[in-house]
Amino acid sequence: MPTILAIESSCDDTAAAVCRDGVILSNLVANQQIHVQYGGVVPELASRAHMQNIVPVVDEALKKSNIALTEVDGIAFTQAPGLIGSLLVGAQFAKSLSLSLNKPLISVHHMQAHVLANLIEDPQPSFPFLCLTVSGGHTQIVLCENPYSMKVIGETIDDAAGEAFDKSAKLLGLPYPGGPFIDKYADKGDQKKYPFPEPNIQGLNFSFSGLKTSILYFLQNEKAKNADFIKENLHDICASIQYRIVTILLNKLRKASEETGVKNICIAGGVSANSGLRNSLKKMGEKLNWNTFIPRFEYCTDNAAMIAITGYYKYLQGEFADLSISPTARAEW
Ligand code: KG4
Ligand code: ZN
Repeated sequence: MPTILAIESSCDDTAAAVCRDGVILSNLVANQQIHVQYGGVVPELASRAHMQNIVPVVDEALKKSNIALTEVDGIAFTQAPGLIGSLLVGAQFAKSLSLSLNKPLISVHHMQAHVLANLIEDPQPSFPFLCLTVSGGHTQIVLCENPYSMKVIGETIDDAAGEAFDKSAKLLGLPYPGGPFIDKYADKGDQKKYPFPEPNIQGLNFSFSGLKTSILYFLQNEKAKNADFIKENLHDICASIQYRIVTILLNKLRKASEETGVKNICIAGGVSANSGLRNSLKKMGEKLNWNTFIPRFEYCTDNAAMIAITGYYKYLQGEFADLSISPTARAEW
């Protein structure tokens, strides 16, 4: 029954989790509020906040799980991809623990961990499954054959889906991160009122930068005619933006399912909290006979539980990292 202590510090959340024999015993996240005033993550401030947070967060994760450091069998950490300064804090901390406890170090790829978050709780998808990972930094469709074999079959060529939400929200004067605000205002809006364009991108890849530009021009145009346009039509604008982002995502997911013949469909990442995406995925799934899976929200956003479960599978295979390993900002897989 291996016990894994996991650390995630790839962006602006300092997270630690403990899992024993594949069961999550604790999952803690310290969110960094410092970035809100800048309207986006400031990498240097993120690294500094990680340094302040990491000891108390790991300590609390151990306490909450009732596990002593001496009972830990392996230390998993996010090795890539992410902000390099942020990754370095988690990596150095994990290496130091591994060295002092004389326990194996397990290097985890953040994006693979998002996919394997679907294996944390029941019901779990059976293999193979497709996972649409959508967050502020990522938009990918991954074909997962088993915990050790997965392949990216589609990804964004520019902005991530979460960025599309956040940048649109910024144009509307909403606070950062704006995704949840668009979701909230979209609730009472008419999603067909403003038909924003769907880009024509080859294969299973995505693009969101054209959508952002068309929203920008649309708003400039309407505001020139009526200075209160946004205020008067906020619900319809948000509903129309959300509708377009969701249809871009789901049309590619449907294409991926048709091309691979895989009908076990998962989503992961912070954008999977979006009610429009969740409802439309459910509807599409019912229509196309899919088995759909959405992990609990705390396992969808950046978290250490997903690093722990991935670390657990790697531990079972004896896939350990050398202490000379360095984090990398970008990583192929
Ligand atoms: O996974 P996450 O917490 O962090 C990373 O970016 O890795 O995802 C954050 C993103 C942000 O872009 C945020 O606006 C978006 O997820 N988000 C949402 C919602 N909740 C979070 N976007 C749309 N609707 C939501 N309800
Ligand atoms: Zn992430």
